[in-house]
Amino acid sequence: MITLGIETSCDETACGVVKNGRILSDVVATSVSLHRPYGGIVPEIASRCQIEFITGVSKEAIKKAGISLRDLDLIAVTYGPGLAGSLLVGVSFAKALSLALSIPFIGVRHLDAHIYINFVKSKPSSRRPRFPFIGLVVSGGHTSIFLCRGAGDFKILGNTQDDAVGEAFDKVAKILNLGYPGGPVIEKYARASRGKLIDFPRTFLGKDSLDFSFSGVKTAVLYYMKGKRLTRGLIADVARSFQESVFDVIIKKTMMAAEKFKISTVAAGGGVAANKMFRDMMKKACLVSGRSLFIPEKKYCLDNGAMVAALGEALYGNDACSGLDLTVETNLGAMVK
Ligand code: KG4
Ligand code: ZN
Repeated sequence: MITLGIETSCDETACGVVKNGRILSDVVATSVSLHRPYGGIVPEIASRCQIEFITGVSKEAIKKAGISLRDLDLIAVTYGPGLAGSLLVGVSFAKALSLALSIPFIGVRHLDAHIYINFVKSKPSSRRPRFPFIGLVVSGGHTSIFLCRGAGDFKILGNTQDDAVGEAFDKVAKILNLGYPGGPVIEKYARASRGKLIDFPRTFLGKDSLDFSFSGVKTAVLYYMKGKRLTRGLIADVARSFQESVFDVIIKKTMMAAEKFKISTVAAGGGVAANKMFRDMMKKACLVSGRSLFIPEKKYCLDNGAMVAALGEALYGNDACSGLDLTVETNLGAMVK
């Protein structure tokens, strides 16, 4: 079975082709440089770029996969959560292609796809997660923990109450005058830190809560920096301390969820999972607690079309195909059972 995955939920226009759980191609275009002067995503610019990029990106994905459009059996597309204007481009494109090729299409949830990429095998011998497992999405728009019981059966256990962790990276980078997006540049500075750790607050929202809040740590960084001169050493120490405080909370809560539901496997995804400190801390926590961990290689942590295709392929057959009435959803709340 050959599936084309289309991902247009934010500023990336991504298409990937997956054949029976193996990636044949993965092409990503981004409008990130156009948002940089504004310090964050401008939805109007993002959706206009989606329209400009989608035809070229999809053609390139088909070409790189070494197939023709007529070889496709299925189209999978992200229908939410995300920016309405951006999502509409991908969903409308998928509908048109499905009609033109007379093949089915499936709308998938962006967050499930971030987790589901862990099922894609780079080698025939690669390990794959086994249900049930705890799924964690750490991205620019979300920080969510799921109990994953099967493809299409991801139950949300915890979610951020304010900023997503990637958003907190972006806001802290702004405070430190590092530009947008914040994740990679904060990671770079954090690696150079040789000073003492600053004790930024860790917000747990109660002993048993699996929800998150990152607005406090962002404000703490803002107050800490007031009146201080921005030296490379200070930026590096703040970056490392910030990273450690948010990752500590995320990992403790993920382990709490695994403990609560007696689960021995964790699968993570989302842009922030590309961060080396996150990967190292997560590996250590899983090793210590005897759990197996799945994290995609770095490029597949970020938004991509292959993750959408992989999930679509898994959902196909479960009566999961969408109709032309499929609409887009901007909020995760409207999409969870
Ligand atoms: O999953 P993603 O590509 O898009 C969303 O679904 O939001 O994640 C983008 C987010 C951005 O906030 C970016 O700053 C963050 O992921 N990010 C990172 C790193 N690379 C990207 N955060 C921390 N460390 C990184 N290396
Ligand atoms: Zn994403």
